Amino acid sequence: MAFRLLLFTCLAFISCQKESFNTCTDTRSLHESFTYPLGVAYEPNYANSDSSYQAISKRHFSRWTPENVLKWSSISFQPYQYYWEEADAFVAEGLAAGKLLHGHTLIWYRQEPSWLGTLSLNRQGWEELLRTHIRTVMTRYVGKFSSWDVVNEAFLEDGRLRPCIWLTHLGAEYLFIAYEEASKADPKALLFYNDYGMEDNPAKLNAVLRWIDQMRERGIQLHGIGLQMHVLLHYPNLGRTGNTFFRLAEKGLKLHLSELDVALNDPMKPGEKPSALLLTQQAYRYQEIIRMYHSLPTRAKFGITLWGISDRYSWLRTPEKPFESPLLWDENYQPKPAFCAFAR
Ligand code: XIL
Repeated sequence: MAFRLLLFTCLAFISCQKESFNTCTDTRSLHESFTYPLGVAYEPNYANSDSSYQAISKRHFSRWTPENVLKWSSISFQPYQYYWEEADAFVAEGLAAGKLLHGHTLIWYRQEPSWLGTLSLNRQGWEELLRTHIRTVMTRYVGKFSSWDVVNEAFLEDGRLRPCIWLTHLGAEYLFIAYEEASKADPKALLFYNDYGMEDNPAKLNAVLRWIDQMRERGIQLHGIGLQMHVLLHYPNLGRTGNTFFRLAEKGLKLHLSELDVALNDPMKPGEKPSALLLTQQAYRYQEIIRMYHSLPTRAKFGITLWGISDRYSWLRTPEKPFESPLLWDENYQPKPAFCAFAR
């Protein structure tokens, strides 16, 4: 109750407050103003050819998530064979820079190797494959990644389980098997379930909460939930989002805002560049989300992770949306108003 009151007071405060985001200094690292880790999705391919990318990820962020190099399709091109070069380089670079490392992601219906679809196995074979993949990746990096997104995006918007190769062959059991194997592979790592849209979708949230109860009944470890938070200016609804934060924290779970970015393409038209007004609105949006997250109890705050550094490389910038600008630095690494929302 106290938390709910605090949350609503914060929301009221946010809507009355007007601040300018046009000037702020970047004399200290962003993460130093936070009492919990501030993370970023890190892509070694960009870092190798772009010194600004590398400098900013080292200076301003205390935790790195591999944007792609740890996904199954990035580490295995042939059945049961692993290629570790890029993932190992990510780990070595992150640890040398003194960063916490968050593993992303072991099981996801996308970015799976194409050879998975060519296998013909019985149920036991599929279970062994699932377990072996999780065990192989996690044990290679024991003590290096302190936390993992074990399964990503397993639920549909209506709360049913998303069709995927694992659901086809193992049924709903696959989710339990995945977490059981993950906690055996690295008993000290914090295990997360990661997904989008739960914050503003009671059907999906309730389904995930029911599954969490089942995990507990079976005694299987789950430490936290990753809310991806690929948000827009007007979605999700912040009242419902705050309520979701509260319900997850109340269950004793850690909360990770795991892939935060604020897209502008709605209302900006695809061919348009963002106006100063839109960039300021984006800064407010970031600020509202950060403040809501701040008001959670300390034990629930696993951290906030931004899904990239410069708009130049954002996954949301596509040929159809060439000026999408969801991050804190523009394509020339100039800090945007959104940067100022983090710098105070
Ligand atoms: C994205 C990466 O940012 C892109 O580079 C890649 O092409 C596709 O995947 N949800 C997730 C992330 O959990 O892994 C996705 O990352 C973005 C959506």
